[in-house]
Amino acid sequence: MLTVAVLISGTGSNLRALLEAASHPDFPARVVVVGADRDAEGLAHAEEFGIPSFTVPWHAHESRDAWGEELGRQIDVWTPDLIVLSGLMRLLPSSLVSRYAPRILNTHPAYLPEFPGAHGVRDALAAGAEQTGASVIVVDDGIDSGPILAQERVPVHADDTEHSLHERIKPVERRLLIDVVRRIATGDLTLTP
Ligand code: GRF
Repeated sequence: MLTVAVLISGTGSNLRALLEAASHPDFPARVVVVGADRDAEGLAHAEEFGIPSFTVPWHAHESRDAWGEELGRQIDVWTPDLIVLSGLMRLLPSSLVSRYAPRILNTHPAYLPEFPGAHGVRDALAAGAEQTGASVIVVDDGIDSGPILAQERVPVHADDTEHSLHERIKPVERRLLIDVVRRIATGDLTLTP
């Protein structure tokens, strides 16, 4: 059974979808812990599913490295096979990335390499794109620049707001993420350094 740690900052709707998938006896992976960089709303999903959680507050640390070191310590307790960044709005320090590489995945609400960064949905709208998408990637030292494991196009509607477009992208992100985790767990997809 593949063990997964999930890191979040927000509402954790993608986390919830993964928790639901992983609660089916046939799913070959389990979420063993959920971590956050703040008092994230999404931690409630972990509680509901009986999954342990921890918070390593970004603002309580004086540098990215100090924060990342504590985050790494908390993750290490659970020795997860995989770390999924599901809406974690912080860059991990490279020491943590290289320690777990290539076993850290990120979901992104755009068709990478288009519109990387924290505002992928807003940037697609601002560019007047007719379509954007969702991607699941391996985290490397750059910003949303790692190898792409899965992605799918999502149309942009003329009356879309950032919210409506993001809400249309998220279900695609969830489906891709769950599928990628399943394929890694079954050996259909191999993560190569
Ligand atoms: C997702 O679109 C993720 O890719 C982005 O933030 C969103 C997280 O949403 N970085 P949620 O917290 O899972 O609801």
